[in-house]
Amino acid sequence: MANEKTQDKKKHYISRKESRQIARENSKAIRKFEKQKKRKVKVDDYTTEMKDDKNIVEVEDLHTYFFSDAGTVKAVNGVTFSVPAGSTVGIVGESGCGKSVTSLSMMQLVQAPSGQIVSGSIRFRADVFKRDSRGRKIPVYETETDENGEEKVKLNAKGKPIIKKNALGGNTYEMESRVVDIAKMPTEAMRSIRGREISMIFQEPMTSLNPVFTIGNQLNEVGRLHIEGISKQQVKARSIEMLKLVGIADPEGVYKKYPHELSGGMRQRVMIAIALLCNPKLIVADEPTTALDVTIQAQILDLLREIKGKINGSIMLITHDLGVVAEMADFVVVMYAGKVIEMGTAEDIFDNPLHPYTIGLQKSKPTVDGEVDELYCIPGFVPNPINMPDYCYFRDRCEKCMGKCSGEYPRLMKVTDTHSVSCYLYEKDAEVKNG
Ligand SMILES: Nc1ncnc2c1ncn2[C@@H]1O[C@H](COP(=O)(O)OP(=O)(O)O)[C@@H](O)[C@H]1O
Ligand code: SF4
Ligand SMILES: [Mg+2]
Repeated sequence: MANEKTQDKKKHYISRKESRQIARENSKAIRKFEKQKKRKVKVDDYTTEMKDDKNIVEVEDLHTYFFSDAGTVKAVNGVTFSVPAGSTVGIVGESGCGKSVTSLSMMQLVQAPSGQIVSGSIRFRADVFKRDSRGRKIPVYETETDENGEEKVKLNAKGKPIIKKNALGGNTYEMESRVVDIAKMPTEAMRSIRGREISMIFQEPMTSLNPVFTIGNQLNEVGRLHIEGISKQQVKARSIEMLKLVGIADPEGVYKKYPHELSGGMRQRVMIAIALLCNPKLIVADEPTTALDVTIQAQILDLLREIKGKINGSIMLITHDLGVVAEMADFVVVMYAGKVIEMGTAEDIFDNPLHPYTIGLQKSKPTVDGEVDELYCIPGFVPNPINMPDYCYFRDRCEKCMGKCSGEYPRLMKVTDTHSVSCYLYEKDAEVKNG
């Protein structure tokens, strides 16, 4: 009996020796990654190429880990997907499967130092500032034609050249389009992309908004930070314009209010306004409607759809709710335990789900006509992220499990040009497709 108890303890507790070893390994790994992020590098060092020019983002074999006291949590463990320009991609999966960590990785906002992007690429088509030999941005000046018909730089009263204004009212600098690898970018360089080119909407607006500043203040702050050279009046006008764009009926009134004076739905609209302020190319929305009630949820989804058309950008919509994905997404990525287990167009995933987990997710979705008395629940648990097995992570919950499933983890197989799945049931279909 006593022996059994010690055996049991051994299973659940880490010895002091093991704990010291984990701490040593963690600090070594963390030091390495932190050093990499602070290094001084040229743009060329993290410039890359898209595999497909139609995409705005390509995530390839991304690994993001947390070096915790209990061991390494492989929160994102080899994720690959892309976002075609102008489309909405839905990332779906149960709580804890790594959706948020994937999106935070794309923003370089994973909680450091314990959380680190360990390997993989996040290719993003960005407009970056051109730099001179001393690393300074190159302004574009206003010009005028003099009496001899020659074009000259326009000077202000103090004799200084006047920098041309852009559409947002800020200074214009020479830009160039580059594909950057966010996973390899130093922190400093990421600052000019985050908020300006990619912006994020979080689940709980109350925790993302600062309770002690007015809505106007918070919008203006983002404007001032990202639109260099914008005047006070212009930034205010832009803030109010954005509040109007997200369907707030009294934008001037809301501009002066504090977050606690607004309803949950209004706060989420404000968050969307902040996200839109700098005309981003990509909006990452992490469970944007989960904290809201159903009618407001529908309004916010309508708003996101409407806005996507207006800004001509792309949306990455993260949710545990298949219903939301069905309504919004052109492409769907299904995640399970830190990996992509199936992806395809919305039709592929909803009309012809392949992976037993995706099929289970669909069965567990409540329907309006309510023919199912009891909600289906996928039996079993997700494996412990610190100690992932080598075989298919879904095996212990899978009704279709066969001998091969205890072998190595099934790779993501292309079943059609648009539809991929990571499951041995479709190995033959994939072989046929790939000849
Ligand atoms: N700051 C953190 N420290 C340690 N583990 C974390 C942290 N954030 C997330 N994780 C772990 O990473 C995994 C994925 O989490 P997350 O991406 O938040 O899931 P979700 O799909 O619900 O958004 C989970 O196992 C979670 O426990
Ligand atoms: S590989 Fe095997 S265990 Fe895994 S989902 Fe497919 S059938 Fe089930
Ligand atoms: Mg999440």
